[in-house]
Amino acid sequence: MIQCPRGTRDFLPDEMERRRYYESILRRTAKIFGFREIATPIFEETELFIMRSGPNILNEIYAFKDKGDRDIALRPELTAPVMRMFVNGMSNEPRPLKLFYFGQCFRYERPQSGRYREFFQFGAELIGNANAEADAEAIALAASMIGALGLNEYKIRIGHVGVLRALLADAGVPSERSAEVLQKLDKKLYDEARVLFGSMNIADGVADGIFKITETVGGKEVLDLISEDAGSYLRELVDMLAAMNVNDVEIDLGVVRGLDYYTGMVFEAEAPSLGAEKQICGGGSYSLSELFGGEKVFSTGFAIGFDRILLAMEKEGQKFIGEGVDAYVVPVSDDVRTDAAKIVSMLRGAGISADIDIMRRKMAKAMKQASAVGARYAVIVGRNELNENSVTVRDMGTGDQKMVRLSELSAIFK
Ligand code: HAM
Repeated sequence: MIQCPRGTRDFLPDEMERRRYYESILRRTAKIFGFREIATPIFEETELFIMRSGPNILNEIYAFKDKGDRDIALRPELTAPVMRMFVNGMSNEPRPLKLFYFGQCFRYERPQSGRYREFFQFGAELIGNANAEADAEAIALAASMIGALGLNEYKIRIGHVGVLRALLADAGVPSERSAEVLQKLDKKLYDEARVLFGSMNIADGVADGIFKITETVGGKEVLDLISEDAGSYLRELVDMLAAMNVNDVEIDLGVVRGLDYYTGMVFEAEAPSLGAEKQICGGGSYSLSELFGGEKVFSTGFAIGFDRILLAMEKEGQKFIGEGVDAYVVPVSDDVRTDAAKIVSMLRGAGISADIDIMRRKMAKAMKQASAVGARYAVIVGRNELNENSVTVRDMGTGDQKMVRLSELSAIFK
């Protein structure tokens, strides 16, 4: 038997209904914040992802040659594609541009619970400025989305990658090697970071000072420990968030983020119930447009890992009950099948979701099927009732039955 490829999943109807429902909540929330939806191709020229991250990214993505010998990659994320799209055709639009997207991403990772090779991101990019208002808008939207989904246990941590970049520069890390060090700090791989510092002749004491900063977590008091500029910026941001009713954020100077386009504020949300792969959202402020041939524009954005956040909700015991159909039409005998087809068609024409037995089941089995498809009512079509222009309608919840005239049938469902 052929299975779906490693790290990918099929979504069965119940799961798909659940996903669509929560997706619609995220869409609605983004619209409430004044963001508008966009879509970009699922594959891009590989160069788009190499430009910022370097050729090492090839180990982590799906990249291949197409039949025209072009280098193509399945997108591992959407920030670079959105900025490409901005430079290609949106750079003259009034700013800020507030864009959101929902779609699949592909990463060549080792699959485990909450980590897939094909996964879905719901993200937003706010293009046009890098100030506390813009960053607050992005974080407030992320917090609202997580709240609107109904996840109870999560934590939002805000850091500033500019602080660490400055510390590394002061310590003597050459700028072309800072990404390498930041990646180790992001994963809290201090021993490996120490080896890197050593190779750059940076003293252990200096390295320890940097490690200490990345382990600093807390409220606004933490901001006294960092540079005046970054400290007052984050203070303004936290105040702005409080004004927007986003209060339970933590300052964590160890939030570094794996992707290397961030310039200033960075943030992550995590759901502790998920264990190892607990990060449900990540983002920050960045500038990428100049790399793709446009003018330099500051942006801020984030992406929610849709699969992970649904997993976290499941872990919290949240149940989703699908809608089912309004009506399930059951012809009692072969001679009323055409009449039953007319009835189901009439209901559908009136905008009522209606299904019909096409397996020629006996009454009891057909009623079982009506339950299985989650029908609110069964519409039982029998010869005697039809002679009186009526059908029997059974409320599948209570089991109550009554005769209803065909002319009044649609009204029951309204
Ligand atoms: P990211 O942190 O790489 O950021 O991904 C965002 C979210 O996608 C993660 O927090 C995680 O929930 C989810 N995710 C990542 N990899 C996987 C995977 N293999 N399986 C399941 N879920 C995964 C970005 O992608 C940035 N583009 C976010 C951003 C937007 N920054 C600025 N604007």
